[in-house]
Amino acid sequence: MACSTRTMVVACLVLLVAGSSLGAAGLPAGGSSAEDRVEELLARMTLDEKIGQMTLFTSTWAQTGPVMDAGYLDHIRSGKCGAVFNALTASYTRYLQTIAVRETRLGIPLLFGYDVIHGHRTIFPIPLAESCSWDLAAIERAARIAAIEAAAEGLHWTFAPMVDIARDPRWGRISEGAGEDTWLGCRIAEARVKGFQGDDLSRPDTIAACAKHFAAYGGAQAGRDYHTVDVSDRTLEEVYLPPFQACVRAGVRTFMTAFNEIAGIPCTGHRGLLTSLLRGRWAFTGLVVTDYTSINELVPHGFAADLAEAGQKAVLAGVDMDMQGGVFMNHLRRQVESGDVPLARIDEAVRSILRLKADLGLFDDPFRYCDEAREKRVVFCARHQAEARAIARKSMVLLKNDGATLPFPPGLRSLAVIGPLAEAQVDLLGNWHGAGDGGKVVSILQAVRERVGPGCEVRYAKGCEVDGKGRSGFRAALEAARGADAVLLVLGERETMSGEAASRTDLDLPGVQNDLAEAVARLGRPTAAVLLNGRPLTLTRLDAAVPAILEAWFPGSLGGRAIVDLVFGDAAPGGRLTVTFPRSVGQIPLYYNMKNTGRPVVGEEKYTSRYLDCPNTPLYPFGHGLTYTTFAYDSLHVDPPAIDAGKPVTVTVNVRNTGKRTGEEVVQCYLRDVAASVTRPVRELKGFRRIRLEPGESRPVEFLLGPGDLAFLREDGTWGTEPGEFKVFVGGSSATTLEGSFTLR
Ligand code: GLC
Repeated sequence: MACSTRTMVVACLVLLVAGSSLGAAGLPAGGSSAEDRVEELLARMTLDEKIGQMTLFTSTWAQTGPVMDAGYLDHIRSGKCGAVFNALTASYTRYLQTIAVRETRLGIPLLFGYDVIHGHRTIFPIPLAESCSWDLAAIERAARIAAIEAAAEGLHWTFAPMVDIARDPRWGRISEGAGEDTWLGCRIAEARVKGFQGDDLSRPDTIAACAKHFAAYGGAQAGRDYHTVDVSDRTLEEVYLPPFQACVRAGVRTFMTAFNEIAGIPCTGHRGLLTSLLRGRWAFTGLVVTDYTSINELVPHGFAADLAEAGQKAVLAGVDMDMQGGVFMNHLRRQVESGDVPLARIDEAVRSILRLKADLGLFDDPFRYCDEAREKRVVFCARHQAEARAIARKSMVLLKNDGATLPFPPGLRSLAVIGPLAEAQVDLLGNWHGAGDGGKVVSILQAVRERVGPGCEVRYAKGCEVDGKGRSGFRAALEAARGADAVLLVLGERETMSGEAASRTDLDLPGVQNDLAEAVARLGRPTAAVLLNGRPLTLTRLDAAVPAILEAWFPGSLGGRAIVDLVFGDAAPGGRLTVTFPRSVGQIPLYYNMKNTGRPVVGEEKYTSRYLDCPNTPLYPFGHGLTYTTFAYDSLHVDPPAIDAGKPVTVTVNVRNTGKRTGEEVVQCYLRDVAASVTRPVRELKGFRRIRLEPGESRPVEFLLGPGDLAFLREDGTWGTEPGEFKVFVGGSSATTLEGSFTLR
């Protein structure tokens, strides 16, 4: 904490008494509708007060961008700041709220925002990991718990969900989203919005969500963060925009503009995006905030000659609130007075902000979220921790398990734990862990020691650093592994190697970790690798070296224990990949729903779309994931074999547990439109079912595919279906070969 804590505590204590007795001096009385109260307040506001509401500053408790302005307290006092982010705890938000309510003319309460991305104090797996659970109810619960904890600490608004579709793992922010598939991304976006906002935003345990980063941020060229996005209108409509529209349909209250441009127009100044599409076509009525100083960045983009022009372009494009840039604060007044910015646009922006504050209940009680007693009761409570551990287990993906290496058998007499992340704590939390406390995290090594008990000798050796070339630790690692009943390698990235401003050109395990793994594996002991990473890595060497690999991602506060639950078979891994793992970075972008091209690979035929040095296939495909039993699929039926436009087909398949343990399978249904007015992907996910089967048990699984599933953006620019043949694929990953077909007449 950058601020002087003692001064803060004293100030909080002094104002705690005063703050709780204050009403909001200038706020309209209750009883009338939110609209009326907003209009009544708006009519009394000066232009400076209106511009103040359009200004968001960070506190100095955390830094999430390039510049800090420690003047936020003065800006609040002078009515120049209507919202603050990176300020938390019930007492500190109460302190700031008391300044706003007590020391400004109208006493308009502040909005408190924060990056509650995957949990608040109880940290859940990173969003990419959560998406691999394919459990929408669990994902919604995780967001619900995050909201309960954040709201208990005085927060009203989270800058989540991040719904950027990402197909390039060089981009570090792939860790923050729901993977490469648009249909699944829409379902997960809906679940997260509902989890954060609940069904009543005025409840003090719900917070406003924020669909970000609008739009197509995941399309950054070469996976380099903040880089240019240049995609076709079709790709924009078919791939990147639908999860944002799904958020609007789920009732999301705010949007955040992306840093990037799209085909020459930076999103923060993109009128077509923010007004014509978002407010026009999609009828969004909420608040649009920029990303961190992204108005200022219109100048280096080459889209504005100076900050004044940048501010004007942003507000006219449809931006309502300036995050950390101070541009609205310093330029809007003159632009309104000169007529360059209509007052009506300012009023529209302020309405969206005041309406959110009213709907959060802040007009009735600005301090309703500043509840120290609730904060103590709910934050990091046992129930939340149990939920975090459960979804962490479901998020982890067993990539390979030759010879049933995992789970380790009971009764091990010795276990070697080797690797640079075995003792990691804060790394288990992953990037954007916000208010999560690494000190409360049980490391994998500690969790192993607690799990195996006194009968098993646990030998630990770090082996090497996460990155760097040092091999001096290899000797001790080999000593520890030699003769051990089993070896657990703990490898991967530091949490800072993914997330924002964390693109990588080389996706191999960093440093000499592959060398360490190969040296240990050559000892021939039963060896499993656990990976902590925020993106798909190119694991070709590790895959060749060890018989078992568990992708644990960054699994959150309870991640160490969840990993050990799986390694020792107390639970079975439940995850399935929502991103493709390439063999080589040279294959990128590589995703399952690609086009067939006119020269698809056929056997060894030379003149086909292929590489000389690498197969086209990924190392691990979208949808892939093993568990501690096996499943067989048969009896795929598509009924009826031919349908008229507007009618559905029913797809049924029989799934059987062919192993010796109970297990959960994610049955996936993919569709291909074989020929249409525009080329269509070789397959697209249209549905899934997570089912649990006892050993030997079999069960029919059914999918209903309707016109909405067959529809696409046709050549004439309309969404709809076209007659022709459709193929259906059902199985445990996008690589399934079990197929059926039907005809749309
Ligand atoms: C950052 C991120 C955005 C985050 C915001 C506030 O730069 O791009 O995702 O919500 O600033 O911290």
